[in-house]
Amino acid sequence: MLACVTTFVIDGLEPHAVSVEADLRPGLPAFTIVGLGDRAVSEARERVRAALLNSGYEFPLRRVTVNLAPAHLRKVGPGLDLAIACAILAASGQIPAAALAPLAVIGELSLGGEVRPCRGALAAAEGARSAGLDGVLVACEQVSEASLVPDVAALGVPSLARLAEALDPARPPACPVDDGGGSPDPRTDVAPDLADVRGQRHAIEAISVAASGGHNLLLTGPPGTGKTMLARRIPSILPPLHGAAALEVTRIQGIAGLRRDAGLVTQPPFRAPHHTISAVGLVGGGSPPAPGEVTLAHRGILFLDELSEFDRRALEALRQPLEDGAVAIVRGQRVARFPSRFMLVAATNPCPCGRTGSACSCGEAELRRHERRLSGPLLDRVDLLVDVPRPTGIELLAPPATTSALVRERVGAARERQAARGLLNAELRGRQLVDAARPTSSARRLLRDAYDRDGLSARGRERALRLARTIADLDDVERVDDEHLGQALQYRSGRERLARLAA
Ligand SMILES: Nc1ncnc2c1ncn2[C@@H]1O[C@H](COP(=O)(O)OP(=O)(O)O)[C@@H](O)[C@H]1O
Ligand SMILES: [Mg+2]
Repeated sequence: MLACVTTFVIDGLEPHAVSVEADLRPGLPAFTIVGLGDRAVSEARERVRAALLNSGYEFPLRRVTVNLAPAHLRKVGPGLDLAIACAILAASGQIPAAALAPLAVIGELSLGGEVRPCRGALAAAEGARSAGLDGVLVACEQVSEASLVPDVAALGVPSLARLAEALDPARPPACPVDDGGGSPDPRTDVAPDLADVRGQRHAIEAISVAASGGHNLLLTGPPGTGKTMLARRIPSILPPLHGAAALEVTRIQGIAGLRRDAGLVTQPPFRAPHHTISAVGLVGGGSPPAPGEVTLAHRGILFLDELSEFDRRALEALRQPLEDGAVAIVRGQRVARFPSRFMLVAATNPCPCGRTGSACSCGEAELRRHERRLSGPLLDRVDLLVDVPRPTGIELLAPPATTSALVRERVGAARERQAARGLLNAELRGRQLVDAARPTSSARRLLRDAYDRDGLSARGRERALRLARTIADLDDVERVDDEHLGQALQYRSGRERLARLAA
């Protein structure tokens, strides 16, 4: 007897269809799995055998061969358990094979036969949709995630014992029905609020501008002035994700195993890797290629605290994802592409000891090392360089400058202006940028002067215009004027100051 069940494995971020074929023939009882599976796949034999027997089925006393096709594709992880069990049950006539034919089957099994969630349910459902299948069979916990994909029915199954029930469309769903109790806005209870910050009006304005247009930001200042505090509050002023962006982030987090609850992710990701992270950890890689922090931060924020402590090679690897909004990882003849449109937020002391000017006690060599780390590829791609000075005693006692709710409203309005044009300002290039900015003649003159007189680079010129577009959006103004551009140039000018401090 032969039976075939469809499942999906994830390669990079893409779902690939895999046919699980089970063949039973007379002979000494044996159970083999072939088809380039990893360790977890070969261990599936033990889980599947125990799960079948503990769920009241018979394990066929025959030669059982399971083939995973196509044979050239590497299959990793325990997500194939349920499909292997279904194929054996269908081949031995214990469940109707016809009911499984239009479905993709994804899930891990416990020895007792419970179906456990596994990574990539949303991606698998997307794969099922493009393969023209009618539905996906997943663990109960993943029904809401899989049902985000239109035109594909998400069937849940709590355990192998209840498989027949789950596959019968005439019977009520086998999983407990989610009453969808309307989860509250997640931001209100997780992200800390700007109302905790005293003083730092200038820095708060700068993070509002950066968040509005998705611009890269570097906070510099002595230790203990609130740099880390400010950066961690940026998620509280970002508008929620929706539409395709939300689905994309949900899918990435599902594959990376970062999901905590079911359903659509609407909160922009915030990733803050430790400074000991490697280049591969940051941009992705390995075999098989796995997404790095830049991809986990896609449509959200990548926060690099204590920037000068990061490995220089790791920071240099950020250049491509920052510029292209994607990383290409080449492994042999294959290229894995991962999206990486994130907003970079970095924080650093102006020098290793953290004290500026004459109080600085750093040696020449230390300063050079610090400068080398900060300058170069990264600094050139930072749009706002922001001083975070020590707050004065009066500022520390005064009421907070603002709250996250107030700032979020402004940021939301600026984002809406951008949505009407089609692109986030940070994504504008060349002609699109000029059309969106429509600089007035005095703004154009200012830009020309800055270019001729102050040695602004061509890239710097574009970055300044993009930033000015955002400042004008916050002002609700149609055309970029010299005032907006002046502010934008000032945000960039910290660069020279930083270089001087470090020199
Ligand atoms: N401007 C500020 N307003 C309120 N508290 C502050 C401020 N700056 C620093 N703090 C307090 O000091 C602590 C350390 O701040 P932190 O953000 O870690 O400083 P930095 O990253 O600049 O070294 C914060 O957790 C907070 O309690
Ligand atoms: Mg800090």
